[in-house]
Amino acid sequence: MSLESQPQRVAIVGAGLVGCLAALALANADKTNPAAPAYEVTLFEMRPDPRLQKASGQLRSINLAVSDRGIRALNAIDPQMARRVLAGMIPMYGRMIHHKQDSHGECRQESQQYGLYGEGINSIDRGVLNNKLLDELDAVGVQALFHHKLTSMGMGEKPTLFFNDETAPHEFDFILGCDGAFSATRFHLQKHMRMNFAQEYISKMYLELYIPPAVGADKFSIDKNHLHIWPRKDFMLIALANTNGSFTSTFFGDWDMSDHLVEGPDASRDVLELFERNFPDAIDLIGRDALVRAFATNPRGALVCTSCKPYNLAGKALILGDAAHSMVPFYGQGMNCGWEDVRVMMELLEESGFDTHKAFDKYSETRHEDLLAICDLAINNYREMASKVVDPLYLLRKKIDGWLSRALGERFWIPLYTMVSFRGDIPYAQVVKREARQQRILRRLVNGIVGGGFFAAVGCWWLQRKR
Ligand SMILES: Cc1cc2nc3c(=O)[nH]c(=O)nc-3n(C[C@H](O)[C@H](O)[C@H](O)COP(=O)(O)OP(=O)(O)OC[C@H]3O[C@@H](n4cnc5c(N)ncnc54)[C@H](O)[C@@H]3O)c2cc1C
Ligand SMILES: *[C@@H]1O[C@H](CO)[C@@H](O)[C@H](O)[C@H]1NC(C)=O
Repeated sequence: MSLESQPQRVAIVGAGLVGCLAALALANADKTNPAAPAYEVTLFEMRPDPRLQKASGQLRSINLAVSDRGIRALNAIDPQMARRVLAGMIPMYGRMIHHKQDSHGECRQESQQYGLYGEGINSIDRGVLNNKLLDELDAVGVQALFHHKLTSMGMGEKPTLFFNDETAPHEFDFILGCDGAFSATRFHLQKHMRMNFAQEYISKMYLELYIPPAVGADKFSIDKNHLHIWPRKDFMLIALANTNGSFTSTFFGDWDMSDHLVEGPDASRDVLELFERNFPDAIDLIGRDALVRAFATNPRGALVCTSCKPYNLAGKALILGDAAHSMVPFYGQGMNCGWEDVRVMMELLEESGFDTHKAFDKYSETRHEDLLAICDLAINNYREMASKVVDPLYLLRKKIDGWLSRALGERFWIPLYTMVSFRGDIPYAQVVKREARQQRILRRLVNGIVGGGFFAAVGCWWLQRKR
C-alpha cells in the first residue's frame, strides 16, 4: 500500500505552544502539499483543557515575546491562521532602560531601539495564545485528549504509548514529544536509544510581579511599546505590556540572594529596602502591599538549560521544543525556536518525500548546531540585558554596528540582535558565525584607530624633535 492511501497515525505528547503548532502543521500538510500523506493526529495533554478553566495561577510567565522566527513558522503553515492567532499582540520597538535614581531623586528612562528600521518584537499573552491554537486544532479536526499523562512507552515495530488513564495502550506510526523541559517522552526514549543528554540550572531564579492598569485616560502606566528593563547587574526587573493595560513584570536574581527576600525573618522589610534602593519607580507601579505580598506568595521559578542528541529514534519518534532544548529566557527565543523546530521538521519531511526516517535523521544531524547556538546566545544575553545596556562602550559598539549595517547593507553587516530576532531566514549557527566575523573586523578597526593614533603621535613627536 502506498503512503498516500493510508493515513499515518501520529501522537503528539504535550499540548503546549509547540505541541499545538506541530499538530496544526501535520494536520494541514496535505492541504499545502498534495504529495503529503493524510496525518491523523492525536494530541495528549496531562492537564485539563485550559479553555474550560477559570484563569488559574500559572507558574510560567504570563506573556511572551514573539518575533520573526515564530511568526515565520506560523505563516509557513497557514497565513490566515497566523493572523488570527497573533491578533492583538503588542509591538515592542525597543528596550526602555530604567536607570538608577539620580542625585535629584529622578528615575530616568531611556529608549534603545531594537531594530535599525523600526522592527519590533511582540508581547502576547501565553494563555490566550495557547487557547487560540487549541481552537484552531478543533477547527481542523485534531483530537486533543486532556487528562492524559504519558507514563510509559513501548518501542516495538510501532511506538506504543501508555497513559495514566489505564485504558488500553495507543499504537501509532510515529510520535512527537512536545512535553516541555522535563519531557517524559525524552525520558522514556532514552531507555530505547543512546541519547546524550545534559542539564544545567543557572544560579538565577525568577519571580513574577504584576503592574495593574493605570486609572485615567491612558490605561498603560509606562510605555506599552517597549520592553522595560531595570538593569542592576546581578539582578534585574523587566516588564511587558498586556492588552488590558497591565504589565507582567519579572524579577530575576540569584537563588541565594532571594532566600532572605522570600523566607527570611524580615522578608517584607528586605523586599521594600531592595526596591527602594534599586527600583523606586517600580514600587509606585506595583504598589507597596502588592509587592510584599508577591514575594511572600508567588513561586520562584528555576531556569534550566538542557541539550541532547540525537532528537529522534529512527522514524518512530522525535522531540521538539523545550523537550529537546530548554533555554534560559534572556533572548526571548524559547517558544520562537520551538516553533522554528516545527517549520524545519516540515521542510525536511517535504524534502524527503514524507519519509519520516530520513527526515528525522536529517533533523538530528542538521538542527543540533543551531539549537546549541541559541542556547548559548540566550545565556550570554543575561549580561547584555542586566549590565551592558548601560555601558557606554557597549552602546558605542551598537552605534557602529548600526552605521556599518546601514552603510554596507545587510548582505555584509547585520547587528546580532537583528539576526536573532528579525531575520528568521538566518539559522542560529550562522548568526553566531557571522557575529564572530563582525566582532573580528570591529576589533581590527578599533585597534586600527587606536594604533593609528599611536603611530601618528609618535610621528609628530619625531618630526618635532628633528626640527
Ligand atoms: C520566565 C520565562 C520567560 C519566557 N519568555 C519567553 C519569550 O519571551 N519568548 C519565547 O519565545 N519564549 C519564552 N520562554 C520560553 C517558552 O516559555 C518555552 O520555550 C515554551 O513554553 C516551550 O513550549 P513547549 O510546548 O515546548 O513546552 P511547554 O510550554 O512546557 O509545554 C509542554 C506541555 O506538555 C505537557 N506535558 C508535560 N509532561 C507531560 C506528560 N507526561 N504527558 C502529557 N503531557 C505532558 C505540559 O502540561 C505542557 O502543556 C520563557 C520561559 C520562561 C520560563
Ligand atoms: C489583565 O490581563 C492579565 C494577563 O492576561 C491578567 O493576568 C490580569 O488579571 C488582567 N487584569 C485586569 C485588571 O483585567
